[in-house]
Amino acid sequence: MRSTYASVSLASIKHNIGIIRSRLNPETKYLAVVKANAYGHGMEAVANCALESGAAYLGVAFAEEGVRLRSAGVTAPILLLGATDEDHMDDVIRHNLMPTVFTVETLSLLQTHAAKLNMVCRVHIKADTGMNRIGFTSEAEFTEAILLLKSCKNLALDGLFTHFAVSELADPSFTRLQADRFRRYAAIAQINGLNPVLHASNSAAALHLPDTQFDMVRGGIAMYGCNPVGHAVEGDDLRPVMSWHAYVTHIKTIPAGEGVSYGLKFVTPRDMLVGTVAVGYGDGYKRCLSGKAEVLIRGKRARQIGTICMDQMMIDLSGVPDATVGDDVVLIGSQGMESIPADELADKAGTISYEILLSISERVPRIYVND
Ligand SMILES: Cc1ncc(COP(=O)(O)O)c(C=O)c1O
Repeated sequence: MRSTYASVSLASIKHNIGIIRSRLNPETKYLAVVKANAYGHGMEAVANCALESGAAYLGVAFAEEGVRLRSAGVTAPILLLGATDEDHMDDVIRHNLMPTVFTVETLSLLQTHAAKLNMVCRVHIKADTGMNRIGFTSEAEFTEAILLLKSCKNLALDGLFTHFAVSELADPSFTRLQADRFRRYAAIAQINGLNPVLHASNSAAALHLPDTQFDMVRGGIAMYGCNPVGHAVEGDDLRPVMSWHAYVTHIKTIPAGEGVSYGLKFVTPRDMLVGTVAVGYGDGYKRCLSGKAEVLIRGKRARQIGTICMDQMMIDLSGVPDATVGDDVVLIGSQGMESIPADELADKAGTISYEILLSISERVPRIYVND
């Protein structure tokens, strides 16, 4: 066992899916977004837990991630949320993955590959209603794609979706505008006799704008227990899924006036009890947090001091004189009455909780717990 590990609560994933779904109509489907190794939590374990907790679909970014789930025995529908290039089409079709299509050319290529394999490829078409990332931006081109798809024997339309750009904002007007634009694309599909699964909402919209839920929502960050608006919102009751731990490996009193760590940038203002913790930026504890972050030890907050090294860092134990080597140090999570949410580190690092969770590197073992 490494001296740092991340504990992933499967019960909390289940709880959070329950919270999201409690905001929605009972028949609204849930797509669990498990791309990027399930936001750092471990793709296979989270996928299985989400499916057991009622998810109907899984969402990943690209073909390799989908194949990884299929290799783990996952049989549920898997949507590739990003673009699929021609080199990956055979793999996508063989593994029964659903690509996102947003050009007429991609549809033609998929038809050619599916026909060659004598298989049917189910696709989701994406409409870009304001994010300006991927998706059809013209209703005329979208209509052309719909008509082409209808004529393709080896293609079937499973879904139609869009993505919101600012659903985490308190002002819902742009999100509602996007939803209205999306309804026009849905109407075109329906006028042409197609009835795809319609989906638009991410976590923020699923939690706070139920009128944009359509047939399915795609939930990521809320399932992992972070509020998409970046701070706790009363009543949301999401439970953080991941807690990140390390151990104290060394304790000493450093005399006043000594520099600590690379660059000797932190200088002890007095004799100071300092602990060394075996975790660093090589584990994903961002170096830009140097001197800004706090950790939990013996139920108390202790500040991190000096430059964070690749595998180690130092903490000020002045307020925890009873600390000993081997003590559990919580970097993200709770201890006693205190807790450090991923959002706290995100604020200090000038980023969002998504990036903090995703940055926890592969060398940190994930331990799955059922409570
Ligand atoms: C297309 C798409 N849908 C849904 C999500 C999930 O978003 P969130 O984690 O905010 O719920 C993402 C995340 O990046 C996404 O790219």
